[in-house]
Amino acid sequence: MEQTFILIKPDGVQRALVGEIISRFEKKGFFLRGLKFTKADRPTIEKHYKNSIAKPYFDMLVDYMISSPVVAMVWEGKGVIAGGRKLIGSTDPLATMPGTIRGDFSIDIGRKIQHGNVIHGSDSLEEAKDEIALWFPEEERIVNWHSSLQPWIYE
Ligand code: TYD
Ligand code: MG
Repeated sequence: MEQTFILIKPDGVQRALVGEIISRFEKKGFFLRGLKFTKADRPTIEKHYKNSIAKPYFDMLVDYMISSPVVAMVWEGKGVIAGGRKLIGSTDPLATMPGTIRGDFSIDIGRKIQHGNVIHGSDSLEEAKDEIALWFPEEERIVNWHSSLQPWIYE
């Protein structure tokens, strides 16, 4: 089944949203396959946001992402890449719908080091593969398991 990379950003951790966010993914019917509480280093974040390197906000984004711990996760399920993005909401928290994680818990995308939109989710299959490989190297093998809830959620 499809897998995606989800990262609770520094503001999400500082604002005690870890449990709430994990709970939303669990209740939707996605399955946790990898979980790591860590403080990211600059090279990892620069690789993670390599497609944003030319953006005017890039340096600020990297400083924010390494300012405080994050929670890195792999989630699995049918359509989990697009479905995860739906749970998250769109990039600008004020413009996205209430009911989404960004829509419920944040205001600004982030122009200061402490501000952010709480959570990251891969936006394509290619990005998901790259990000899972970046954050969970081979030796931290993604756990292979099957939830007993699966037959109650998936046809
Ligand atoms: P992007 O990949 O465009 O958004 P998303 O996180 O929804 O996939 O941008 C990556 C991050 O860059 C975004 O979550 C927050 C930051 N960012 C800014 O700080 N300012 C901006 O104007 C944009 C578009 C993004
Ligand atoms: Mg993105």
